[in-house]
Amino acid sequence: MTILIEKPELVSQSDCQIHVDESKELVLDGGFPVPKSLSGEGFLAPEVNSFGNSFRDYNAESERQKSVEEFYKQQHVNQTYDFVQKMREEYSKLNRMEMSIWECCELLNEVVDDSDPDLDEPQIQHLLQSAEAIRKDYPNEDWLHLTALIHDLGKVLLLPKFGGLPQWAVVGDTFPLGCAFDEANIHHRYFKENPDCNNPSYNTKNGIYWDGCGLDNVTISWGHDDYMYLVRFLTIIIIIIIKLSKFISLS
Ligand SMILES: [Fe+2]
Repeated sequence: MTILIEKPELVSQSDCQIHVDESKELVLDGGFPVPKSLSGEGFLAPEVNSFGNSFRDYNAESERQKSVEEFYKQQHVNQTYDFVQKMREEYSKLNRMEMSIWECCELLNEVVDDSDPDLDEPQIQHLLQSAEAIRKDYPNEDWLHLTALIHDLGKVLLLPKFGGLPQWAVVGDTFPLGCAFDEANIHHRYFKENPDCNNPSYNTKNGIYWDGCGLDNVTISWGHDDYMYLVRFLTIIIIIIIKLSKFISLS
């Protein structure tokens, strides 16, 4: 994928109308709801998710919980060191498509993230809500608003024109491969069925790595974050935030 940097044209290609008003608030008519407070303080971040639970609670009983757990089972069994090498080689070619940022955002209108316990709506809503929430908390950090807007664009990997990869190869938290799986990972027990568990050189704390080797030398499970890292069309700090945004066992 090649991202073209140009002035975004905020005009809908469907029946959703989008424009910027005088207060520079993004206004969406009939399309994607971005909650705003009545007091005029801008975006009002919700305190519970779409299912009435607190955010990122993977054990909360909800209609979503079972499918999210099944997703993590698939991901933990299928993401191997060799699989990631193969994906990185294939997608480093960046030969899929050329488009603007906004065109790429609109593609996510067709994408739902099966790993997300908080949302089962198209991902373009997640991009807009993330950007608005960060704009509220950090109004002067425009680079951070942009980071939030684009952080999940790599989920286009789910679409046929980008290879139509399965959900387990695109979304969800990420983790290093080539070393033991950390227990901080969500639904850790499913890693025992991963073929890499049978490779003794991958089963120690450091595995094939060494202290101080640097994160750039660590193979991290393949997905939308690493794909955007390969695209590398922005400053390195934004790219590193995107690449590591789902590396939960690091934090
Ligand atoms: Fe996200």
